Amino acid sequence: RPVTGIADRLLAWYDAHHRDLPWRVPPRELASGVRPDPYRVWLSEVMLQQTTVEAVKAYFQAFLERWPTVQALGAASTDDVMKAWAGLGYYSRARNLKACADRIAARGGVFPDTEDGLRALPGIGAYTAAAIAAIAFVRPAVVVDGNVERVITRLFSIAMPLPAAKPDIRAEVERLVPADRPGDFAQATMDLGATICTPRRPRCMLCPLRQDCSAILSGDPEFYPVKLAK
Ligand code: ADE
Repeated sequence: RPVTGIADRLLAWYDAHHRDLPWRVPPRELASGVRPDPYRVWLSEVMLQQTTVEAVKAYFQAFLERWPTVQALGAASTDDVMKAWAGLGYYSRARNLKACADRIAARGGVFPDTEDGLRALPGIGAYTAAAIAAIAFVRPAVVVDGNVERVITRLFSIAMPLPAAKPDIRAEVERLVPADRPGDFAQATMDLGATICTPRRPRCMLCPLRQDCSAILSGDPEFYPVKLAK
């Protein structure tokens, strides 16, 4: 595969520069066989759906301290969960979180380990199912959020406007995702988009993919992604 180098360079960068986030198992621990707790992956991904990483950190810690397992969350009252969620917004997420915890608790606390199985649960859409499958269960899922869209449209100078470009973006990610580290690949792309390949003034000089990036050659990486005028 001619593009293998891109994933390798991105993962080497992630090994050295990944953000330390409370729900993550760092790459060196993953390599020594530590598995992420699906409960932590699920809880963080639901919280991160419409909320920034910085805002989620404290809530994630508070939830874990109070409800250390999905069974504990299932045994909680909806009212207590709603109150603990206060401030995060989009309260349907909290209602779905509780409903989902009930369903998982009823299966002995075991999360489904496929995208299809995960997507059948309350509050888990295509993005969240892919993220949990990749991060918790090492499935080669195609995980695409706004950060990933920006990184990929720049890397391959995809000038077609969003949302029409989504199938092309997904196809490129599918081609790149490494079978042995799909979760790190997804989170590395997110971290690159959050810290280097930013919407304005991307730090291309620091980018591990500058040699691969088609947008740099154009001289105007900020041009991507193109969005359809509203
Ligand atoms: N946004 C959504 N999921 C994330 C993750 N696992 N790490 C960083 N940012 C994210």
